[in-house]
Amino acid sequence: MQQDQLQSLLAVLADGEYHSGSELGELLGVSRTAVWKHLQKLAELGVALDSSRGRGYRLPGGMELLAAESISAQLPEGGLSLALEVLPLVDSTNTRLMANAEQLPAGAVCIAEQQSAGRGRRGRTWVSPFARNLYFSMLWRFDGGAAELEGLSLAVGVCIAETLESFGLTGITLKWPNDVLVENKKLAGILLEMSGDPAGTCHLVIGVGINVEMSLAAATGIDQPWVDVASLARVQGCERVSRNALCAGVLARLAALLEDYPEQGFADWRERWMMRAAFLGAPVRLITATQETLGTLTGVDKSGALVLSTAAGEQLFYGGEVSLRPES
Ligand code: BTN
Repeated sequence: MQQDQLQSLLAVLADGEYHSGSELGELLGVSRTAVWKHLQKLAELGVALDSSRGRGYRLPGGMELLAAESISAQLPEGGLSLALEVLPLVDSTNTRLMANAEQLPAGAVCIAEQQSAGRGRRGRTWVSPFARNLYFSMLWRFDGGAAELEGLSLAVGVCIAETLESFGLTGITLKWPNDVLVENKKLAGILLEMSGDPAGTCHLVIGVGINVEMSLAAATGIDQPWVDVASLARVQGCERVSRNALCAGVLARLAALLEDYPEQGFADWRERWMMRAAFLGAPVRLITATQETLGTLTGVDKSGALVLSTAAGEQLFYGGEVSLRPES
């Protein structure tokens, strides 16, 4: 099935109006049978179509598709220049940028309507249904090696939280190192991956997944409590949040963060992370591959390390494959 035809079909249906099979066929230059097959494909992707005898097909309520032009137009002028690519389908936006990290320019961004193999932290799958949420990755390059990146993943969490707050959403917390939560339910996740020379020039891919309007059918595959932007906006009386605007907001903040990070480091972000810290002052259990530690979460230090007050005194944890849970 041709992706560009599917995309063109969606672009027409996105207005929420009825379009007859023959009109769609003419627009795409394909037969009515081909149109019907594409419509079937859209239904399989979870796009809820309405059909009416004599009137044709429509997408009730319309749909906002991701568009590079719309996102670029909402980026601040004079900011870093980003090379945006919007794809209908990819295995994983992180995988795509990691595979091409040597050739692509810093500031390359891959955004997808759907991921067939979206990846989360600790080997998890990131559930990525079509045209519902945001899945994107940005490539960056650092010359000072991995040491320059200390605490960066926490600062990325701050960028996402601040963007969501700029749309009026409240109650967003950050769970160390970088889960974005509301009432302990996952709203967004961050996956940082690195290649190159850890002591010299390294390529960094920052992957961001934000649940915007998760489909209930797809959500059956999520193995943790979750929440999405659309339901929060409804409950909190905020306006509907545009995916293109949300994407532009996060990208603009990420670009500013990355530009300054080698000089600035985490110290300047610490306060903004701490003011949103989940479980601050509460008993928690930190689980690594080899041990479990109980303690009270007292915050993060200036490098972004987690600080726990334990029976054996203050202990610092520096990331890796760890999981943090409230201890009740
Ligand atoms: C987490 O487990 O919290 C991290 C989730 C990261 C998901 C995003 S979606 C875009 C990018 N591509 C991926 O395959 N993963 C990240």
